[in-house]
Amino acid sequence: MDIYAIRLFEIDANLFKILIKYVSEERKNRICKLKNNRDKNRILISELLTRKIIYKKLKLNNDQIYFDKNQFGKPFLKDYENFYFNISHSGKWIICATDCKTIGIDIEKIRSINYKELAKNYFTNEECRFILETSANNQIRNFYRMWTLKESYIKAEGRGLSIPLKSFSIDINNKRINKVNSGYCEYFLKEIEIDYYYKMSVCSLNPSISNDVIIISENNLVNTFLNKTI
Ligand SMILES: CC(C)(COP(=O)(O)OP(=O)(O)OC[C@H]1O[C@@H](n2cnc3c(N)ncnc32)[C@H](O)[C@@H]1OP(=O)(O)O)[C@@H](O)C(=O)NCCC(=O)NCCS
Repeated sequence: MDIYAIRLFEIDANLFKILIKYVSEERKNRICKLKNNRDKNRILISELLTRKIIYKKLKLNNDQIYFDKNQFGKPFLKDYENFYFNISHSGKWIICATDCKTIGIDIEKIRSINYKELAKNYFTNEECRFILETSANNQIRNFYRMWTLKESYIKAEGRGLSIPLKSFSIDINNKRINKVNSGYCEYFLKEIEIDYYYKMSVCSLNPSISNDVIIISENNLVNTFLNKTI
């Protein structure tokens, strides 16, 4: 299992025109509908990063890479059953985890929000207790730990919010998922440090989840496409 990350970067109009040619028609259409340049760049970079990783891992050239989505919108690589990936973006980070089994990853920038209200509405009683039993300073960080852990599981399952958030509880000490009516499930969780102002978690069927994050630089990503390495 590998985890890759790239910082969101600005792309000037000329370079944007070149790079957009390398992504799927679906993504081009999605980008065209966005108003904000930062969002356009984020959606473009996220697919370019995925394509670069697929090239690195499977030696597929760009024109051999096709994506599809499950009925809840989780993307997968067409025709490669043993290759799984999942993407997440928040603030300045775009991350992608890959594995030979289904995987989910989530990153969230820690923002000042009404976490007590959100936790009450969406988290189980045990999860709320975990957040509130710490000092006031740590509560918001624990809220985001819990959020990314829950979200990583939902994303690993790939069924989005059709999984009720209160139907399972995160056992934060054992890094397992406790389903309300059926006990521990087969997934494993891990929290990974990338940036003090963010929380990031991974959920995998694989018990050995990597601690390392491979940071890809802007130049490295752009040159992969400009130099037609891929
Ligand atoms: C669709 C969902 C995955 C979006 O999550 P998100 O936190 O808004 O966004 P993230 O940046 O983490 O993930 C987006 C990526 O997930 C992937 N994705 C989309 N649907 C997915 C699904 N059903 N399962 C897994 N991954 C999915 C896509 O690759 C997408 O990247 P892209 O936009 O570049 O194509 C979904 O779980 C959701 O809507 N969550 C709401 C968040 C929430 O309210 N959480 C409550 C706190 S626990």
